[in-house]
Amino acid sequence: MKPFDVYPLFNINPQKALNYNIWDDNNNKYIDLYGGHAVISIGHSHPYYINKINEQLNKIAFYSNSVINDLQTELAYKLGEISSMQDYNIFLCNSGAEANENALKIASFFTGKKKVISFNKAFHGRTSAAVAITDNPKIIAPINSNHDSVKVELNNIEAVEKEISKGDVCAVIIEGIQGIGGIIVPDADFLKNLKELCTKNNVLLILDEIQSGYGRSGKFFAFQYADIMPDIVTVAKGMGNGFPIGGVLIAPEYKAHYGMLGTTFGGNHLACAAAIAVLDIIKNEKLIENTNTIGSYFINELKNNFKNIQVRGLGLMIGIEFEKNISEIRRNLLFEDKIFTGVAGSNIIRLLPPLTINKNIVDIFINKLSKQISKT
Ligand SMILES: Cc1ncc(COP(=O)(O)O)c(C=O)c1O
Repeated sequence: MKPFDVYPLFNINPQKALNYNIWDDNNNKYIDLYGGHAVISIGHSHPYYINKINEQLNKIAFYSNSVINDLQTELAYKLGEISSMQDYNIFLCNSGAEANENALKIASFFTGKKKVISFNKAFHGRTSAAVAITDNPKIIAPINSNHDSVKVELNNIEAVEKEISKGDVCAVIIEGIQGIGGIIVPDADFLKNLKELCTKNNVLLILDEIQSGYGRSGKFFAFQYADIMPDIVTVAKGMGNGFPIGGVLIAPEYKAHYGMLGTTFGGNHLACAAAIAVLDIIKNEKLIENTNTIGSYFINELKNNFKNIQVRGLGLMIGIEFEKNISEIRRNLLFEDKIFTGVAGSNIIRLLPPLTINKNIVDIFINKLSKQISKT
């Protein structure tokens, strides 16, 4: 047997990693400005994180959700505290798509309706309902295509209003910052109007913070720039720093009943230990403050050094849009300069580094990027 060949691979075989660096099997050292797709929040192989997981592994790694697990309570408390959402409840699961799938179920259960509004260029995952509301027909299989959903233009409140007025909508789902769509920040006024519109019409507003959450935007959640309280927030990626865990944060008015949702692995002891360690480190090492400082420096340096290129984003979620295909620049950055970057579409470099990077790393990247741009 061999792995199902669905990923085009770079010929790099990472063997170890520390903070924002990765080493391959030839002992080449790389700078990680991609965080394995926005997953590495606190840096690779943080000793406190390793220790917490090790300690837990030596006690108990897993038991089912049929018994008390006080790590879930500790995780919920710490997440409530750092995000200022202490009155919300959390349902723990294993991935981003699963978090969105459960969020959509909750919206449908509570409203008795089933149509979902999402936005052009949205990405919400690959499970059945999550992929149906994702704006990429190539990854929607026929079996996913029966969901009742509609995509509208981002920041166009009239388009949302028109759909909601039909009376069959259970949820509007929106990314805190569109990631795969190209680092597009929704307008704060649009988010405010969206929340108002949803409340008026018995529609739940779901904020997908799977990529933009956990401090990446410079606030704990990107929607907090708009000063709104969504009905549901979904999280994953940076939550476990590589340990698979996701969560659905649910406003207090939506009450649970036994059997409404469920999972075998979600919220297991090891995953909770990893997620608690992540929150402790974000708090103790002031990583949100660092993200703000370094993110602003990064965005300003990019704007000052590359006048003809569009730079977008907040904190350490940054998109650099070129007028041409950037695959050669990215390959050269990776293989010549040993810097991992991400991509959106064919023209946008997407940066999602660990929240621990410093000005020196930014300066190295700016220098290497300008050399690669002048070469191509
Ligand atoms: C905004 C957003 N939502 C959902 C997902 C799906 O998460 P997962 O791959 O953990 O299922 C992703 C993954 O890239 C994402 O960026």
